[in-house]
Amino acid sequence: MTSSQREFQTIGVIGLGTMGAGIAEVFARNGFDVVGVELNDEAVDRGRQHLEHSTGRAVKRGKMTEAEQKALLDQITLSTSMADLASADFVVEAVVESLEVKKQIFQELDGIVAPEAILATNTSSLSVTEISTANTRPGRIVGVHFFNPAPVQNLVEIVRTVVTEPDVLEDVKALVGRLGKNPVVCGDKAGFIANTLLFGYLNHAVAMYEAHYASREDIDAAMRYGCGYPMGPLALLDLIGLDTAYEILDTMYKQGRDRLHAPAPILKQMVTAGMLGRKTGRGFYTYEAADSPIVV
Ligand code: NAI
Repeated sequence: MTSSQREFQTIGVIGLGTMGAGIAEVFARNGFDVVGVELNDEAVDRGRQHLEHSTGRAVKRGKMTEAEQKALLDQITLSTSMADLASADFVVEAVVESLEVKKQIFQELDGIVAPEAILATNTSSLSVTEISTANTRPGRIVGVHFFNPAPVQNLVEIVRTVVTEPDVLEDVKALVGRLGKNPVVCGDKAGFIANTLLFGYLNHAVAMYEAHYASREDIDAAMRYGCGYPMGPLALLDLIGLDTAYEILDTMYKQGRDRLHAPAPILKQMVTAGMLGRKTGRGFYTYEAADSPIVV
């Protein structure tokens, strides 16, 4: 069998939080059998609710019938035991962003999955190479960075390490394509392609605002009307959350030392002051309530 003919049937997803539940849904929607593993029964229940809620919304919008929703949910087996991943050809790990926890999982997977299985981490900032060292087959490990919400966003960044086997990369690209998503491939550095470019740009907008070069409204208007972006950078930062944006920039800066990612000082000051954006009602703009229009 050549690499391009590789068939995947059973997909394991470890961690059914925001990302894992979405990833499990995406695979099930595309006809794969999914085994989802969580820490304990309560977490399994939360994962199930997440799946029911998300697919329920699709039913309400008329994108799926109730029978299709049931069939989809029946394709996902939920478990608290990693041993249930033994039949998986492809496993995506989507647990909390902790190197220690992720390494422990990849070590445990060693004794569970078949030697030809491919393993992936959905980490957004940790080193895929470092996570892979916990497993005896690092050549069969990649990063698969889905975007939030996974059922909606159409990009998946595939992260190759210096030891990822070329046929593994080709198989994962084809698999992502089968999900109806666009795969892009990049090296193992925090931020990958999209966030490296996006957060450099957002940080630059903050620096421009901090220097009183232009008002927040004019910075945002320039990018919306001049460049066709759906939102200006400062409004987008308020939506992302200034604390999250700061952490992402700080991680990228510490790893890559690219000064584009050195967080603008005012960002840290706003985070310290509790101005986190929409979620606290105040960021670059002021909000009456979450998702309300800007009231200045
Ligand atoms: P989350 O906190 O919503 O979910 C993590 C889940 O992992 C929880 O349900 C938790 O119970 C479970 N978990 C923890 N330890 C476990 C273990 N040993 N075995 C099984 N399950 C375990 O986190 P979220 O946001 O879904 O993030 C997951 C990963 O995806 C992280 O690596 C994050 O960096 C990455 N990511 C997050 C994005 C986002 O927008 N939230 C976007 C892209 C990637």
